Amino acid sequence: MYVITGATGNTGKRISHALLDAGKQVRVIGRSAERMQEFADKGADVFVGDLNDRAAMEKAFNGATAAYVMVPPKYDAEDFRAYQNEVNESLANALEKSQVKHVVALSSVGAELPSGNGPVAGLYDMEQRLNKLDEVHILYLRPGYFMENTMMQIGTIKAMGFAGTPVKPDATFGMIATQDIAAYAVKRLLALDFTGHSHQELQGNRDLSYAEVTKLYGEKIGKPDLEYVQVTPEQALQGMMQVGMSQSAAEMMLELSEGLNTGEVHPLEPRNDENTTPTTIEQFAEYWTAAYNAS
Ligand SMILES: NC(=O)c1ccc[n+]([C@@H]2O[C@H](COP(=O)([O-])OP(=O)(O)OC[C@H]3O[C@@H](n4cnc5c(N)ncnc54)[C@H](OP(=O)(O)O)[C@@H]3O)[C@@H](O)[C@H]2O)c1
Repeated sequence: MYVITGATGNTGKRISHALLDAGKQVRVIGRSAERMQEFADKGADVFVGDLNDRAAMEKAFNGATAAYVMVPPKYDAEDFRAYQNEVNESLANALEKSQVKHVVALSSVGAELPSGNGPVAGLYDMEQRLNKLDEVHILYLRPGYFMENTMMQIGTIKAMGFAGTPVKPDATFGMIATQDIAAYAVKRLLALDFTGHSHQELQGNRDLSYAEVTKLYGEKIGKPDLEYVQVTPEQALQGMMQVGMSQSAAEMMLELSEGLNTGEVHPLEPRNDENTTPTTIEQFAEYWTAAYNAS
């Protein structure tokens, strides 16, 4: 049986559906039975529980032989990294007490760094903690920047008339559609072909800059002159806190932007067939544009 954390999220939802469609026994974990009804309809075992509830997670992982684990962001956490570490500890404890032999864990590019990488530092902590599980085969996926992050620009464009983040317009890095992360995770979860503790980078289809992405999106929405503005850290902090982020979470996000600007957060491998994923930004732009037009 496969246990899937974050089952209603970007990656977990697709992974859960794919494993169920492949006829596998699946237990989905989330905080709402209603949001997981679509999996129950396909025969999944639905487990309602909080990832940082250790007793609940021990039960949730009991009886499973493989798992997909991830640490969901909690943007209003007073101490973002401490929250990530509560989840890390709860997941590690549940895995230790379970029969799970294979784990695909969602990490990130930059997770080899203990600091200077914002929220990715909590994924460094996750890898360090899970690496103590000698008996469990763990494949850490290290994807780049999610294309889905650019969905946040819809609100900025509608409110301010420009796209903007603290990332430099010409800083280039791999952007990946979460459907490609899910597809890769499914491939490895079905094959269970990994041993020991290993990593797989997923760098997206090609490296992109916010300037290039904004130009493309602008053309799609009939605003070919749409501007991308690198906002100041102060403006970004204020904006993030206005939408409910804690200071700790907002500061982490700023740190990550700086890591992308300086190149400190970067893949360790050259591009190759295995770490380059299929979805292009032009394909993702169709989805982005539909959401823009519907909002
Ligand atoms: N954004 C990026 O560019 C990027 C890049 C690399 C790595 N990452 C990493 O990717 C991960 C996020 O992956 P994702 O986008 O697939 O996740 P996601 O869409 O944020 O989904 C997470 C799911 O987890 C569930 N959840 C949240 N808090 C929970 C809790 N306390 N207990 C149980 N379930 C909880 C939520 O479902 P319910 O509300 O239904 O419970 C939610 O649907 C993070 O670890 C992030 O650091 C992100």
